[in-house]
Amino acid sequence: MTKVLVIESSARQQGSVSRQLSQQFIANWQSAHPADAIHVRDLAVDQVPHLDANLLGGWMTPAEQQSDAERVALALSNQLTDELLAADVLVLAAPMYNFAIPSTLKAWFDHVLRACVTFKYTESGPQGLLSGKRAVVLTARGGIYAGGAQDHQEPYLRQVLAFIGIHDVSFIHAEGLNLSPEAYEQGLNQALAQLTTVA
Ligand SMILES: Cc1cc2nc3c(=O)[nH]c(=O)nc-3n(C[C@H](O)[C@H](O)[C@H](O)COP(=O)(O)O)c2cc1C
Repeated sequence: MTKVLVIESSARQQGSVSRQLSQQFIANWQSAHPADAIHVRDLAVDQVPHLDANLLGGWMTPAEQQSDAERVALALSNQLTDELLAADVLVLAAPMYNFAIPSTLKAWFDHVLRACVTFKYTESGPQGLLSGKRAVVLTARGGIYAGGAQDHQEPYLRQVLAFIGIHDVSFIHAEGLNLSPEAYEQGLNQALAQLTTVA
């Protein structure tokens, strides 16, 4: 049984294109693989905290010496990381906000890029510790950026995913959504059509 982890990061529940794509991905996946487990973590509903001194302290302090606050901070961070470790397929649904990914999704990465758990440093450089996983990234953008120098989403996400060992990454961009009603339809329909190639 394959385990799929879906990370939602649109701040809106209604009218969200990235959510529409992820919902269609889930429907496609369930239809093709009915026995698989799909876990959805919605970062707009359950926002994860920014890194703070308690979490960094918890990461670096032996368990028996941790403060209560460090243990609490570590518990959520461990849960997020365990969800990623358990997944075979990671689906990131990501709007473009101010040329980048939502800060909620960045905060999630700050938890799961964990030294000695999802990556480690070696004499020859950093090494990702996740193996055998693939990722699908579903973006929604008001303008058009794919392949251009102003696309700060895809290169960043490829880098952080590769850093933890996820190299098999597919991107589907719904673009031009805010340009005109026609562009919206075109951007959405192209992305929906591409979904059949990844699920
Ligand atoms: C706060 C905010 C910032 C945005 N910044 C950008 C941007 O930099 N570039 C862009 O093309 N679209 C931008 N947009 C438009 C969104 O990417 C677009 O509406 C997208 O559909 C949002 O994803 P969603 O439909 O899943 O909510 C922004 C929207 C919001 C709400």
